[in-house]
Amino acid sequence: MGGQLGFLYRQLTFIPKPLATSSLEGKVALITGANIGLGFEAARELASCKLSRLIVAVRDPIKGENTRQTILTEAPSCHVEVWIVDYDQYDGIIAFAKRIAELDQLDYVLLSAGLKQMEYSTSHTGHETNVQINHIAASLLSLLLLPTLLRLSRSTGNPLRLTIVSSEGHFWIPFKERTAANILKRMDEPETFGTAMQRYCTTKLINVLWTRELASRVSEHEVIINTVNPGFCYSGLHRHVKTGAGIMNIVLWMIGRTTAQGGHCLTDALVEHEDSHGRYLSEQQITDPSSFVLSMEGEVAQKQVWRETIELLKHEAPNADISFFSE
Ligand SMILES: NC(=O)c1ccc[n+]([C@@H]2O[C@H](COP(=O)([O-])OP(=O)(O)OC[C@H]3O[C@@H](n4cnc5c(N)ncnc54)[C@H](OP(=O)(O)O)[C@@H]3O)[C@@H](O)[C@H]2O)c1
Repeated sequence: MGGQLGFLYRQLTFIPKPLATSSLEGKVALITGANIGLGFEAARELASCKLSRLIVAVRDPIKGENTRQTILTEAPSCHVEVWIVDYDQYDGIIAFAKRIAELDQLDYVLLSAGLKQMEYSTSHTGHETNVQINHIAASLLSLLLLPTLLRLSRSTGNPLRLTIVSSEGHFWIPFKERTAANILKRMDEPETFGTAMQRYCTTKLINVLWTRELASRVSEHEVIINTVNPGFCYSGLHRHVKTGAGIMNIVLWMIGRTTAQGGHCLTDALVEHEDSHGRYLSEQQITDPSSFVLSMEGEVAQKQVWRETIELLKHEAPNADISFFSE
């Protein structure tokens, strides 16, 4: 059942479950946005499944260390490391990816870092903040990590996993910017910001488009790339909601999933569903994204967002080696 009624029904009736497997022994995972919220819950869950090594990727070393200590208390056998990455700094993302490239094992990558800014603001890079953090940075990181994932997959012969966190909110926006000569430039213009969560939801739609395009360029036998909707969950994501915050909190109280349940959706997409390459998961199953994504127009927008992102990164992050994916 689609639409907002379907959303309400699924929020009320579906209870996400933790991973069925209890052993990820010998496996290595990297999670961005792992200090809090859904990323933190996913990190905890993987560690509790006897994961051997966990890289907690955060922008604040103190928050990262607190997270490390909490996870170690619960899962002392997991080797937990805190690595710094700020999605608002290209050079930091590039340096982080270079460090990842030195790893000799990495089985799971979960890109969970994100934010929901409800008022127009610009990031250090000059882009609208939701666009920078949710799309540009996550996409740059995915591009920079893939050569490493492919190398490691080829050395073992097993497919590795990459999951990008999107949202059901991608169904709910008009995406008026799709007809612009340059979609990303248009999204930087304050008058296109829209109301309430529109800009955030548009960046989550772009996460879905990006995942599909990226997956189309990589073999599922090497890296299984998917995107997941965790559902509407309690977390700090909603902290910038001011107008209607009272109503949102009541709705959250009535139908919201716990942060841990949201985390279960992330770990499920990351570890299970070997047939999910290029697909969208919601309620812990592979399902269709919005009809726009599946339409011809959606496919055109998908290719356009890809081209624009590559061009933007070549120009703004010239030190990033994305030649692997350049057309
Ligand atoms: N909660 C929901 O209802 C919901 C629904 C659908 C999708 N999602 C998606 O789930 C993902 C996780 O959200 P959440 O609910 O866990 O939110 P959250 O509790 O606010 O956590 C967001 C995480 O992203 C990190 N982050 C934000 N800006 C960053 C930056 N510039 N560089 C590096 N990391 C940064 C935060 O770090 P700091 O602590 O340092 O800020 C935090 O670790 C997001 O992609 C979100 O869009 C959430």
